Amino acid sequence: MTPEPPSPTGTHDTLSGPPPGCPAHGLVPGGARRLYGPEAEDLGELYERLREEHGPVAPVLLHDDVPMWVVLGHAENLHLVRNPSQFTRDSRIWTPLLDGRVKPDHPLMPHIAWQPICSHAEGEEHERLRGAVTAAIATIDHRGVRRHIGRYTQILVNSFCERGRADLVSQFAEHLPMAVMCEVLGMSEEYNDRMVQAARDALKGTETAIQSHTYVMEALSRLTARRRAEPEDDFTSHLITHPAGLTDDEVREHLRVVLFAAYEATANLLANALRMVLTEPGFRAQLNGGQMTVPEAIEQSLWDEPPFSTVFGYYAKQDTELGGRQIRKGDGLLFAPAPGNVDPRVRPDLSASMQGNRAHLAFGGGPHECPGQDIGRAIADVGVDALLTRLSDIQLDCAEEDLRWRASIASRHLVALPVRFEPKPQQDVDLPPQAMPVPQQRSHWQVGTLSTDPAPSAGPQPVTVRATLAPPPAPPAPPQPPRPRGFWHRLLAWWHGE
Ligand code: HEM
Repeated sequence: MTPEPPSPTGTHDTLSGPPPGCPAHGLVPGGARRLYGPEAEDLGELYERLREEHGPVAPVLLHDDVPMWVVLGHAENLHLVRNPSQFTRDSRIWTPLLDGRVKPDHPLMPHIAWQPICSHAEGEEHERLRGAVTAAIATIDHRGVRRHIGRYTQILVNSFCERGRADLVSQFAEHLPMAVMCEVLGMSEEYNDRMVQAARDALKGTETAIQSHTYVMEALSRLTARRRAEPEDDFTSHLITHPAGLTDDEVREHLRVVLFAAYEATANLLANALRMVLTEPGFRAQLNGGQMTVPEAIEQSLWDEPPFSTVFGYYAKQDTELGGRQIRKGDGLLFAPAPGNVDPRVRPDLSASMQGNRAHLAFGGGPHECPGQDIGRAIADVGVDALLTRLSDIQLDCAEEDLRWRASIASRHLVALPVRFEPKPQQDVDLPPQAMPVPQQRSHWQVGTLSTDPAPSAGPQPVTVRATLAPPPAPPAPPQPPRPRGFWHRLLAWWHGE
C-alpha cells in the first residue's frame, strides 16, 4: 500500500512527472520526492524541503519509485520505534514487496529482505534472540575493552606518527572499531587490513561485495565452530552457551550483525567527531575553553551527524495515523535519525549546544534500541581522546570545502580526512598515550575540563590539544605546566576503564 493522499502508485506515475531539468523534477503526483538520483544529492536539504511541504511524515520514493514514508519529526520517530503493536521491523508484510513492485535485485534489498536476526524479529522471538545478544554484551569487561581501545589507538597512531601526515578515515576510524570488535568477539587474529577492506567492501555493495561478505562470514563460521567445541570467556562463547540455545547459523548471523553494525556506525562516529574537532571553530573553542569534554563532543556529534541517517524499515501492522498522515496496513516507514535530530520543534536553534541532552535518535529506541551503544561510545571517546593526546598539533591537511562525503539513504560517510602534524616518535602501545612536545608558536587548545588556559581566537590556526586525562610529561620533554591535583588518579582510572 502506498502513502496517501493522493497515493503515488509506482513507475506509471513517474512517467507522467515533469521532465528532467524542470524545477519540479523529483516531485511526482502525490507530492512524493525521490530519495535517489540527482534530486537526492543533498539528502539533508531534501528532508528539509519535505518537512516544509508535508510536515513530520512525508511520502517518498525509493529506487524503482517504490513508495515509502520518511519520518522527519523527532516525536514521530520515537512513536514509530516505541509502538511494536502498530509497527514491526518484519518486511514480509510490506505491500510493495508482496505485490511485486520491489524486485529481487532492488539495490536496497540487503536492507529490506527479512532475515532470521534480532533486528527483524518481534515479540517472543525478538526477546529470545536479543536476550542472548544483550546477555553476551553484558559479560564484556568494560575495563578490558577500554584497554584494548587504548592499545589499538596506540598501534594505529604508531603506524603513521613518524610521517607527519595521515588520512584519519582509512588509517584510523575504519580500523579502530574493527580491531576492538575482533578482540571482543574472540578473533583478534582475524583483525588485519584485509578484514577491514572486506567489511568496507561488503557494506558499500561494490561488485566484489559478495566475495568480501563471504570472506567475513567464513571467519565468523570458523570462530563459531571453535567456540562451540571449546567455549572461552568472550562474546561469542557467551552467545553460544546462552540458554536461548542459538543454532550455529543464528550465532553466525548475530556475530555478523554485531560486527557490521559496530564497524560501520562507530567508524562513522569517529570520523564525524574528528572532522568536527578539526573544522568547527565553535566546537573547538568550547573544548578549548574547558566547557566541553571529549564524551560531550561525541554526544554532540551523535545529534548533528548520526552514524545511521535512516534505518530500514518499519512496517505498519494495521491502518493507523502518524504525524497527521493516514498510514495503511502494509505501508513502509523509514526511521530517520538524521532529520529527526534536527526537528525544529526540538532544536529551534541548530547552533545551540545539546550538552547534557542524550535524547537524540542515533541509537534508535523502543524494543530494538541499540544494545551496543556503550561500546560504540567507549571506542569513540577513548579513541578520539588518545589520538588527540598523541597528535596534539593535528590540523586538517586540505581546505574544508575539499572534504568529500559518500552518501546513501542509510548513511553518510566522509571519504577521507587528511591531517598533518609535526612527525612524532612511536610510543609503547601498552602505556597510556603521552603528549609530545609541540612547537612554541602553536596556540594552546585544551580538550576537557582541567585547563584554565584562555581559549584561542576562533579561526583556522593550528591547534594544540591536551586531552582531559593528559598523561605525565615524557622525558626529556620541555618544562610542562603544573598538573592539576589528582591527575594521576584520574589518569590511572581512565587507563583501567573506570
Ligand atoms: C556509534 C555506534 C553505534 C550506533 C550509532 C548504533 C546504532 C544503532 C541503531 C540506530 C540501531 C537500530 C535501532 C532500531 O532498529 O530501531 C542499532 C541496532 C543494533 N545495534 Fe547498534 N549502533 C552502534 C554500535 C553498536 C555496537 C558497538 C554493537 C555491538 C556491540 C551494536 C549492536 C547492535 C545490535 C545487535 C542491534 C540490533 C538490536 C535489535 O534489533 O534488537 N551496535 N544500532
